[in-house]
Amino acid sequence: MRKESGGKEKQGGRGMKASRSFGRPEPWRIGNVFIIVSVILSLGILSLIKAHYCSYPYGKSQAPSKLMVPTETNLMMVTDLPEDEDDEGNSTAANMGKPICYETSKRSDTCEAEGDIRVHGSSRTVFVQPLSRRQERKAKPYARKNDAVAIANVKEWSLKASNSHQLPPECTINHTVPAMILSVGGYAGNLFHDFTDVLVPLFISSHQFHGEVQFLISDFKSWWVNKYGLVFKQLSKYEIVDVDSEQESTVRCFPRVVMGPSFHKVLGVDASRSPTGYSVVDFKAMLREALGLERATATPPEDEWDIRRRPRLLILSRQNTRRFLNERGMVDMAMSLGFDVRIGQPDVSTDVAKFARLVNSADVMIGVHGAGLTNMVFLPAGAVIIQVVPMGGLEWLAKETFRDPAEELELKYFEYKIQADESTLGEQYPKDHPVLTNPYKIHKQGWNTLKSVYLDNQNVRPHLGRLRNTLMEALKHLPHNVTS
Ligand SMILES: *[C@@H]1O[C@H](CO)[C@@H](O)[C@H](O)[C@H]1NC(C)=O
Ligand SMILES: *[C@@H]1O[C@H](CO)[C@@H](O)[C@H](O)[C@H]1NC(C)=O
Repeated sequence: MRKESGGKEKQGGRGMKASRSFGRPEPWRIGNVFIIVSVILSLGILSLIKAHYCSYPYGKSQAPSKLMVPTETNLMMVTDLPEDEDDEGNSTAANMGKPICYETSKRSDTCEAEGDIRVHGSSRTVFVQPLSRRQERKAKPYARKNDAVAIANVKEWSLKASNSHQLPPECTINHTVPAMILSVGGYAGNLFHDFTDVLVPLFISSHQFHGEVQFLISDFKSWWVNKYGLVFKQLSKYEIVDVDSEQESTVRCFPRVVMGPSFHKVLGVDASRSPTGYSVVDFKAMLREALGLERATATPPEDEWDIRRRPRLLILSRQNTRRFLNERGMVDMAMSLGFDVRIGQPDVSTDVAKFARLVNSADVMIGVHGAGLTNMVFLPAGAVIIQVVPMGGLEWLAKETFRDPAEELELKYFEYKIQADESTLGEQYPKDHPVLTNPYKIHKQGWNTLKSVYLDNQNVRPHLGRLRNTLMEALKHLPHNVTS
């Protein structure tokens, strides 16, 4: 067994900030079925009304979207825009063949335009010709637009028509490739959010360009951009531009612009909606290429069958909250089953490539619910992910964040649910306390209470006998020729 962790450069409190924000759910998730049902009903009615009377692909007010359910996203992909006469008497939307701005999901807006595009970074303005003045828009290019906490860290951009009424500024730099504008504000620094809110949506928008795209990053953070430098290099052949801190005189011109990310689903890509039909499997392949990961699948290479390479278990070790209290016992038990065991401690300062290689070398990865499980994107196909779900009625959270994406990531998913005698909550509260007997009562008090009680103040001690059964199940799904 070896302890491994990435580089340890200081990131000045980013970790704290990151862990505060992890997994913040949309408030409606916490279970008011009545509201959801009535929203679905009114959404249907609203979309009918919109289709008839509204010339915008989405309403000016974003308030109602807060309660909309993700499965309704396709409703918003308006393609039959009503005639939108611009100042010159031509329908620009019709010329473009699609609306300039549209919702790729309840979390994100994307604006796309071709023509004479001029980006003035210091005022965060994109001048577009041709563009109808009615298509002018303001947007925050980050895939969590209804999350007030995240979006407060994201600056707003304007899309403006440049025509006889408003002359565009002179180009000072001419580009021949499309521009992709996105913000890395929001919850940057938390692995789950880095991938869910930024990297996967960026991949969806930019993979189609095969590197021939210029990234213009707003709310630039050099430590963050450096952290994912290898991934950016894989997606774009051009040096990233810290766009909103450019000089006032700088105007960059492009033949095309994509502003804002395309969000499909948590850690996922909907192949039917991605520009050329790529999926999250292509995202994984891109990561392997970018980070030098060797294993596409968990199947041991031919020549290793002889030496019977032992399957490798990676235990994700959390340091502050939701810790495994009996890690040593877990390691011994897993070794007795024939596993080669590693312990990994990812944190915000971890060298992404180094940690990704450790994850990619594993056949089974186990960890308590938390951002670290996002590392599953680096696991080879056919590997097993085991999510340990702490006490507290958190199944919905476990499902939304890691359970749902696992299958498309080509992983076998197992869940290990912590019971009262495996949780430190059993020691902190009397047996009949609602924290133990009625988690939903706690959930009703809001996300901060839920997080404080169940996520920030709970450690776990899995029952080794029960965990052994789960690991034996996992072994059965591996392609390794191993019996214990
Ligand atoms: C309107 O568009 C047509 C082609 O779609 C073009 O021939 C015409 O010149 C345009 N009119 C104006 C006023 O821009
Ligand atoms: C950019 O291209 C335009 C149009 O071709 C040209 O007029 C302008 O001089 C160019 N600007 C620079 C800085 O190269």
